[in-house]
Amino acid sequence: MSTSSNNTLYTLIAVSLMISSAHADNPIKGAPHWSTPARGISLESEEKPQANIMLLLNISGSSKKYSQQQIDDKFNAPDWFPNRHGQMPDIVKSGKAPKVWACASCHLTSGAGHPESASLAGLDSQYLQNQMYAFANGSRLDYSGHMNRMSKALSKAEIKEVSDWFSNLPPRKVTKVVETSTVLKTYIDDTRMRLFSQPPTMEAIGTRIIEIPDHVLDVKKRNPEGTFISYVPQGSVARGKKLVSMGNGKTIPCSGCHGTDLSGSTIAPSIVGNFASYTVRQLHGFKGKTRKGGQAVMMQGVVNDLTDEDIVDISAYLTSLPVN
Ligand code: HEC
Ligand code: HEC
Repeated sequence: MSTSSNNTLYTLIAVSLMISSAHADNPIKGAPHWSTPARGISLESEEKPQANIMLLLNISGSSKKYSQQQIDDKFNAPDWFPNRHGQMPDIVKSGKAPKVWACASCHLTSGAGHPESASLAGLDSQYLQNQMYAFANGSRLDYSGHMNRMSKALSKAEIKEVSDWFSNLPPRKVTKVVETSTVLKTYIDDTRMRLFSQPPTMEAIGTRIIEIPDHVLDVKKRNPEGTFISYVPQGSVARGKKLVSMGNGKTIPCSGCHGTDLSGSTIAPSIVGNFASYTVRQLHGFKGKTRKGGQAVMMQGVVNDLTDEDIVDISAYLTSLPVN
């Protein structure tokens, strides 16, 4: 074989290995596609971070500098504000090669996360550990497949160490709810993040929640204090409030288990301070039983009779609440 056909062969082998080791998305039965975004295309031209990925970047208030390539290193998450958290476990900062990526790469050093992942800050440690076991044994499916894949490669002691760490971080409110009937058109990028399309065009919001970064480039730098806007349908916050506080004959008031201000109790975790699209995925997960691990059975009677619109309304309301 000539060198060039050898090269072609190696390329083909490399590509097929990449495809076979890539993890398929998990279907979350009943969840609308906008809440479980598949990997899309890379940033459109206007919003592209630095064309030169080696250029050192900074963010306001931090003395650190990282290139976009360093920022996106899944085995060494950027730590913009080392003084704003305690000693980070190695797995949170650097993962556990080869299978486990740095938790802080997706959930950030603040634990606040992004709409396409989850906020972990301040959640009960035992609850977080139970979720890791549920991901590992498949009784809870993560739509992206990453949590199911990575949780299997961690020991009990490692799961406890990282859960304790995220549990000790203060929960924070990172998204602002805006009710609207129309919203700018968006697309999903190659990190599953939703961004505005260029050129800007409006479309009806319908029964959807559209969560986008306030400042794209800031969030792309994995700023642990990055903020978001949650566009939700007109009237959804008030409708969601009724369901959450009174049940309206369709569900059980949430405070009975999640605590009077919904920030958690000994029975159930906090349901404030997370992203609305995350909450939509979870309520569908319970309803379609792709999330049945841990104490999920307690959520069954809550979600059985909820429609897609009820789930959007409840998620919009919960995201609008203050975080204590
Ligand atoms: C590649 C990105 C990525 C990395 C890295 C990552 N996660 Fe996640 N994590 C996710 C996504 C996506 C979800 C949301 C799953 C869903 O919607 O059900 C999630 C959800 C979770 C949840 C469930 C939260 C809840 O409220 O129930 C826990 C716990 C969690 N991750 C812990 C971790 C830990 C610990 C690590 C590091 C060992 C880690 N994650 C690394 C993407 C990631
Ligand atoms: C009977 C008790 C009970 C009631 C009532 C209840 N929940 Fe829950 N909820 C739980 C438990 C327990 C969990 C943790 C499940 C697990 O271990 O996976 C949970 C988990 C959740 C989660 C997932 C949190 C996360 O971080 O992933 C959401 C969202 C949620 N509940 C929303 C609600 C809403 C909204 C209501 C009211 C409409 C409600 N719950 C009413 C017991 C309850």
